[in-house]
Amino acid sequence: MKCVALTYDDGPSEYTGQLLDTLKAYNARATFFQLAPHSEAYSKFVKRQVDEGHEIGNHTVSHLELCKLSEPKASQEISQGRARIEQVSGRKITLLRPPYGARTAKTDALAAKYGQSVVLWSVDTLDWKYRNAQTVTSNVLRDVFPNAVVLMHDIHKTTVDAAGPILAGLQKQGYHFVTVSQLKGATKPGVVYA
Ligand code: NI
Repeated sequence: MKCVALTYDDGPSEYTGQLLDTLKAYNARATFFQLAPHSEAYSKFVKRQVDEGHEIGNHTVSHLELCKLSEPKASQEISQGRARIEQVSGRKITLLRPPYGARTAKTDALAAKYGQSVVLWSVDTLDWKYRNAQTVTSNVLRDVFPNAVVLMHDIHKTTVDAAGPILAGLQKQGYHFVTVSQLKGATKPGVVYA
């Protein structure tokens, strides 16, 4: 089966409901790497994500570059991010996407300590830079390949508006939309997945 994992970082936001509606229309699953304060602020969308079969991951508390922090501060960003998102979602959170994808062997070891696998990406849409639904759509449709992990952000309306055309285009290419865990199988704490 030809699969792709669409991933959305930094949310949830006011636009996440619209994204969930679009995903539902295509029977698509996605993975959401969340900032703990945003999970708490938009807990209604987190509940929907759980109910609708999506996966939720940890994107820390404050979106700081973990490798630039002291070890106690980096630990706190990972462990409190996980705990707070678990509290909102009622799910065990095992995936961490470090902000900016910035990681070292040291931060990977911290991730392992808190039971987190490190998930990067293989297709970067640069959606935060272009802020244009058509550009985001064409970047995904151009760069996708089987088993790709696609990085987007559900805090931008343009990215959420692009979801319909992206799903339609990828479906036409024969893709199935799965979560990171469905794509990678059982993940191990501290191991990096791209
Ligand atoms: Ni981010």
